[in-house]
Amino acid sequence: MHFELSEEQQMIRQAARDFAQNELKPGVIERDEHQKFPAAQVKSMGELGFLGMMVDPKYNGGGMDTVSYTLVMEELSKIDASASVVVSVNNSLVCYGLEKYGTEAQKEKYLKPLASGEQIGAFCLSEPEAGSDATSQHTTAEDKGDYYLLNGTKNWITNGSTASTYLVIAQTHPELKHKGINAFIVEKGTPGFTIGPKENKLGIRGSDTHSLMFNDVKVPKENRIGEDGFGFKFAMKTLEGGRIGIAAQALGIAAGAYELALAYAKERKAFGKPIADHQAIAFKLADMATQIEAARLLVYKAAWMKDQGLPYTLEGSMAKLFASKVAMDVTVEAVQIHGGYGFVKEYHVERLMRDAKITQIYEGTSEIQKLVISRSVLS
Ligand code: CAA
Ligand code: FAD
Repeated sequence: MHFELSEEQQMIRQAARDFAQNELKPGVIERDEHQKFPAAQVKSMGELGFLGMMVDPKYNGGGMDTVSYTLVMEELSKIDASASVVVSVNNSLVCYGLEKYGTEAQKEKYLKPLASGEQIGAFCLSEPEAGSDATSQHTTAEDKGDYYLLNGTKNWITNGSTASTYLVIAQTHPELKHKGINAFIVEKGTPGFTIGPKENKLGIRGSDTHSLMFNDVKVPKENRIGEDGFGFKFAMKTLEGGRIGIAAQALGIAAGAYELALAYAKERKAFGKPIADHQAIAFKLADMATQIEAARLLVYKAAWMKDQGLPYTLEGSMAKLFASKVAMDVTVEAVQIHGGYGFVKEYHVERLMRDAKITQIYEGTSEIQKLVISRSVLS
């Protein structure tokens, strides 16, 4: 067993760290305040190869491993989780889903521009009445011979207005329940497909979250992913890797807040000495560092298992459950260490605290991760 990163992994991490400091940090407070999507930064991340990191180079990807991807997610999330969620969705939900389960024609047409970052994608599973209970899909895809007719509403879709390609889950054979669900590739601009207003959120405010409406949308048969009825398995298998990405995002949010709190605690003086010299603050920092290291090990292990071709459902859920709790706990403490300054936007920690919360909700709430973990340990 060894814990060192390869030279290549260290270089990728440094590139992400530099990009986050130089390109994401300037303007991050304003983007959060005005809910502005980081469009220019997403374009640059595409040019750096961050949007299709694990995709085979023959489809314009970076051919990198999952560990490298988590390193990039961690570094970007230290500064701007609204930008890193674009990276997460594009890499581990959209590109992965298409590369693993798409046809050659689908990869040529849709994966290539997504992996190069020329376009971005969205993953559309959740509905107004089907979030955790994802098998209860109300969106229907009626088989009309050479096309499917899509009707329904998707909720909370990340990259909702900025994506070009949408992977949409819908029910084709209600009598078969989850075995009747399909996944489809839907292009923006298809007649009958409309995008609702942007959600006004607590955190990741730069990320564009929208509901999507499908009203008699014709989807060509060749845009179905996998065999008839494969859609729910497609969503579950894809989310397994997605959860590692969100775990890495949570880790990054925690690490970013910790780094700010550590620096502040050494600098800020109270009662004649730096607050870090008061044991109450020093012990908070000790707890934060320990929690972050434990989260990091879970995240890297889940990524490593995926890279080894080993099953990683359990490890991905454990990493997400634990890292998202650490993100919440550490960011709250980081605000506390900053005192009143932590409560204002200029010091960044209040935004990290608000951003941390979503990591306990999306790609399966903490309760759902516990469901997955408990079923695994009890089986
Ligand atoms: N891999 C393969 N198949 C799986 C699977 C997995 N990891 N998990 C479940 N399945 C299969 C089961 O084997 C079963 O199929 P069979 O009957 O053929 O065996 C089928 O799926 C249904 O599974 P369950 O009986 O376990 O269904 P359930 O309703 O009891 O539980 C669930 C399913 C785990 C709760 C699931 O619905 C779930 O994960 N819910 C959370 C949804 C979620 O994570 N949404 C995220 C949306 S994307 C997002 O959020 C993106 C973003 O923010 C950026
Ligand atoms: P519910 O499922 O209604 O859950 C409500 C509460 O009940 C939660 O605490 C939950 O844990 C608990 N609960 C539910 N069932 C159980 C159970 N069996 N046991 C114990 N507790 C339970 N979805 C997408 O498809 N694509 C996206 O790109 C996307 N992006 C998102 C971005 C944002 C900012 C947000 C807020 C959400 C996003 N989602 C996306 C949706 C997200 O995945 C869901 O919100 C999430 O899965 C929870 O579903 P819900 O909101 O319907 O809550």
